[in-house]
Amino acid sequence: MLPTGVKIDSITGAVAPSTGHYKKRLSEFRGVYRDAAAFDAALARSDPVTYEVIEFKADGSDIFFGTTTMYPGRVGDEYFMTRGHFHARRDRAEVYYTQSGEGLLLLESRDGETKTVEMKPGIAAYIPPDWAHRSINTGTEPLVFVWMTNIDAGHDYGAIVEKGMRSLVVERDGEPAVVANPGYAG
Ligand code: F6R
Ligand code: ZN
Repeated sequence: MLPTGVKIDSITGAVAPSTGHYKKRLSEFRGVYRDAAAFDAALARSDPVTYEVIEFKADGSDIFFGTTTMYPGRVGDEYFMTRGHFHARRDRAEVYYTQSGEGLLLLESRDGETKTVEMKPGIAAYIPPDWAHRSINTGTEPLVFVWMTNIDAGHDYGAIVEKGMRSLVVERDGEPAVVANPGYAG
């Protein structure tokens, strides 16, 4: 393990050097957006990358970091969003530091409390242990943020896949609004 300077491009989210990279496409999100007709119509036009994640992990370290770059777009009135997850380890927190773009971080505690934290350059969002977190690009440009957590934090996607989150972030009169999720299956 040697000290390393990692270059992060605040506009593209590029990370150099990096140790991992994946992309998520709209087609992987069937059932996540509540407007199924809008989802099918969007997918009939194209299958865009909605976000990508690049990481830097030093061998043997207990922490790692990387970027998530979320492209702008909507399915019906819902903005493009991440899957959302709890950490597999319930004692692991995380920080999201926004580099460019604008969005909302939607958080939900195990006992059902909802919070949002604005995502915009200069804001570091603290995600406490055992709060589910989903990021949402509410703007017209890519939303780029740096995340940092413990390598053993892990992802637990199951609860959100099964139930959804209690709140949705939708566009209302050109502005993002947090509304109750009528499809929440809790
Ligand atoms: C890691 C973390 C981020 C997200 C990424 C994609 O704990 O929170 O790296 O994994 O922003 O979001 P998901 O994984 O919810 O699709
Ligand atoms: Zn996380």
